[in-house]
Amino acid sequence: MDIQKINTEYEKASAVAFLQWALKNFGASKITVASSFGAEDVVLIDILMKLDPSVRIFTLDTGRLNEETYQVMDRIRSKYKINIESYFPDRQKVEALEKQKGFFSFRDSIDNRKECCAIRKVEPLQRALKGFEAWVTGLRRDQAVTRSGVSKIEVDAANGGIFKLNPLADWSNDDVWAYIRKNEVPYNKLHDAGYPSIGCEPCTRAVKAGEDIRAGRWWWENPEHKECGLHLPKK
Ligand code: ADX
Ligand code: SF4
Repeated sequence: MDIQKINTEYEKASAVAFLQWALKNFGASKITVASSFGAEDVVLIDILMKLDPSVRIFTLDTGRLNEETYQVMDRIRSKYKINIESYFPDRQKVEALEKQKGFFSFRDSIDNRKECCAIRKVEPLQRALKGFEAWVTGLRRDQAVTRSGVSKIEVDAANGGIFKLNPLADWSNDDVWAYIRKNEVPYNKLHDAGYPSIGCEPCTRAVKAGEDIRAGRWWWENPEHKECGLHLPKK
């Protein structure tokens, strides 16, 4: 597949048009949506469920999510009448980590933080993607310095060379919220409490007016480190 050609062709196309192409090209059963149920992800779910409700949706339930995240998952589940597939981390790895390093080891160093993300997110992601040819994410270029080079379709070398589809790559935060309001999509209540970006509860906090949208994620680290291993910048 000539991904450069597809990126050129779909760069200016709508997310709907790009996803229609993806559904036709890969088939709905070969695509899965990665959802943390943040603003971008609920938009993707709304678009996809209107195009083809058979597309599967998974979430990485790290065991450290906010209560509000489970609440929006349930609202989405009811509204679209869909099953959400949760992937848990390996029980033995979490037990060993907590026994050896305690319950907040991720605060002690970047290595410890990456270790926790590797156990709670990256390994479960690899399991979630087995058997699929492409996964859909809510990555946007203006979310972070680490994301400015995101393309609509990429080869995901870190995940067996399957395709990664980022239909909202060129959307702004305002585009996302305009879509949510117009289509009355359920969203995480924490967005109304100053959380533009939501991950695990102990690693996410509200931001102040004017702060960067990911300033509340791993706020004790520098912006260039703030990726958990689900999305590594292209070299
Ligand atoms: S993260 O890597 O820093 O956590 P972010 O929260 O910005 O990522 O989300 C970017 C995209 O990664 C989401 O739109 C979603 O596709 C995917 N993603 C992030 N966290 C999860 C999760 N817990 N479960 C499933 N997908 C996720
Ligand atoms: Fe662990 Fe925090 Fe990463 Fe969640 S975001 S997996 S709690 S380090």
